Amino acid sequence: MSLEFIQVERDGKVGLIRLNRPKQLNALNLKMVDEIVETLESMDEDPEIRAIVITGNEQAFAAGADIDEMTEVDSIDMLLRDQFRVWDRIALVRKPIIAAVSGFALGGGCELVMNCDIVIASESARFGQPEVNLGVMPGAGGTQRFTKALGKVKAMELLLTGESLTAEEALHYGLINRVVPVEVYLDEAMKLANRIVGQPPIAVRLIKQSVLKAIDLPLDEGLDFERKNFYLLFSSEDQKEGMRAFAQKRKPDFKGK
Ligand code: CAA
Repeated sequence: MSLEFIQVERDGKVGLIRLNRPKQLNALNLKMVDEIVETLESMDEDPEIRAIVITGNEQAFAAGADIDEMTEVDSIDMLLRDQFRVWDRIALVRKPIIAAVSGFALGGGCELVMNCDIVIASESARFGQPEVNLGVMPGAGGTQRFTKALGKVKAMELLLTGESLTAEEALHYGLINRVVPVEVYLDEAMKLANRIVGQPPIAVRLIKQSVLKAIDLPLDEGLDFERKNFYLLFSSEDQKEGMRAFAQKRKPDFKGK
């Protein structure tokens, strides 16, 4: 697929996706979402990449799904288009995805952030689900993921008023990991990604899967999932390397095997 609305870069073992539709504040049109999902999947398959960073620009991460593409369609058009189905594939990406967010992360932009695993924000970042202002509601997971992240009462307030959270508020509610000055938000995300790519990839993969299970599974099933994956890691070379390196007081050299 030719990339029209995103730019793709590599920095060592980190894949970087830049949303690039600046005049529309990176509003996510259908082709752009396809490009994002296909690129995430190809980075997930690429053995040279071990973590992914997704970012926009200083002014906007993404100001939502593209309203122009939705204004005049009817329900059956929406049903046949089924535009949010492709979003489900983001949750299947096995490598860690870090969002580096500055400016607007609204509607689909906020939903994209909530599909990432770690979020670094600049002081100017704004997170919200303003769909109610348009006569609709979130469609790419906003009512569910916002509520799981913020708790019922705060999510309800924001979803019903359409108001957004500042970066500091988002940090307070646990929606994001860190707020940093705008000059360094992407550097911070890249630094974090570079730290993760030095970790054993199979353990990283199973930890990500297990944390995601914790959101949906009852505790006993989550514990069972965790335990089986813990035992599974004892067949990896990286487990032997990590534990022997500890005993020998040297830095481990993880191979992803
Ligand atoms: N879709 C299409 N175009 C958009 C857009 C969107 N979501 N957000 C911004 N744009 C466009 C504007 O139309 C404008 O284009 P023109 O210059 O051609 O007029 C350009 O981006 C700049 O926007 P503004 O002039 O509005 O910039 P501003 O700084 O005054 O305001 C803003 C910024 C508060 C983010 C405002 O643009 C806004 O409210 N955008 C819409 C936010 C929104 O409602 N998002 C939810 C969309 S629906 C959705 O996402 C459903 C879902 O669950 C997936």
